[in-house]
Amino acid sequence: MKALVLNKVTFQIEEIAQPSITENQALVKIHFAALNHRDQWIREGQYAKIQLPAVLGSDACGEVMAVGNEADKHWIGKTVVINPNINWGNNPNAQQKEYQILGMPSQGTIAEFIAVDIDRLHEKPTHLSLEQAAAIPLSGLTAFNALFNKGKAQKNQNILISGVGGGVAQFAFLYAVAIGANVYVTSSKENVIETCKSLGAKDGVNYKTENAIKTLAKSIGGFDVIIDSACGDGMNELIATLKPTGKFVFYGATRGLPTNLNMRQIFWNHLQILGSTMGSDADFEKMLAFINQHKIQPILDKTFELIDAVQAFDRMKNGNQFGKIIVKI
Ligand SMILES: NC(=O)c1ccc[n+]([C@@H]2O[C@H](COP(=O)([O-])OP(=O)(O)OC[C@H]3O[C@@H](n4cnc5c(N)ncnc54)[C@H](OP(=O)(O)O)[C@@H]3O)[C@@H](O)[C@H]2O)c1
Repeated sequence: MKALVLNKVTFQIEEIAQPSITENQALVKIHFAALNHRDQWIREGQYAKIQLPAVLGSDACGEVMAVGNEADKHWIGKTVVINPNINWGNNPNAQQKEYQILGMPSQGTIAEFIAVDIDRLHEKPTHLSLEQAAAIPLSGLTAFNALFNKGKAQKNQNILISGVGGGVAQFAFLYAVAIGANVYVTSSKENVIETCKSLGAKDGVNYKTENAIKTLAKSIGGFDVIIDSACGDGMNELIATLKPTGKFVFYGATRGLPTNLNMRQIFWNHLQILGSTMGSDADFEKMLAFINQHKIQPILDKTFELIDAVQAFDRMKNGNQFGKIIVKI
């Protein structure tokens, strides 16, 4: 079968062996995969325990072609999304040490076929296209955990989604709008801010404009919850816009560490700084139920053919996207 294989220096399309399945597994023919920044970090060598060569990709929508066990035959022919958690463990709030994410070291989704455990399969939400469904797994789960489990986001709260052009951030935005929160966004792109306003954001500002977030926050009395993945020195500016007892939830640190952190501000205002990762298998199910209930429509950026998948990675590297970058397999 064909797969996009990351070798020591570069990607190339290679013929690799089609995976075989064990008794508790299913063989899925992948229709669409989606990129996450994780894939780009691995490509750049900036990820823990990289093993090469690797077929990357944690997201997919595809069709079940075969199963290892007679009892699972009802899955054959079904269109599915795949839960990318491997070995999350029993703690609903944090993954265990043995935890892995689909796609390095295990074979990922940017390939024609994948073998996954039966309990990773979930039926595609019926209101979504194959591409939209492929966009969901990793980002949709990360946003769900950050916004609801950590941020405890609620209707009528002032919620800021920073860098809303990102794959995870757009899900957090869509979820927060769906529950009736007052949602505000930041982005480096004016067209992204305008689109978000048309989709229900109360307002939005460019995070590169000096004092813009501060001015916005002042005009509305501050934020109850901020969802961020950039951190860096922007973190102090964001924390300063929280209401007393407000929550700053972050699931990434694209801009690295802040050079300092205003500790006095944090303790004096009873603020909560909360780290977050993807989410448990139970969260994955709750997330899909939420997407079905609220008819969430993931925002897609652009779809690339498998042969052009390197361009898809370059688009993410350059930060040109709004929403999820898709690869047609
Ligand atoms: N912990 C986990 O389990 C987990 C899961 C998923 C992702 N992550 C991490 O979270 C980060 C985002 O992942 P992703 O897949 O959503 O990436 P992505 O699709 O590449 O999105 C990155 C977004 O970051 C925003 N950004 C860049 N600089 C910013 C700044 N200074 N302030 C605010 N926003 C800024 C940009 O938003 P605009 O385009 O709007 O400017 C960009 O679109 C990555 O670091 C990733 O590794 C972690």
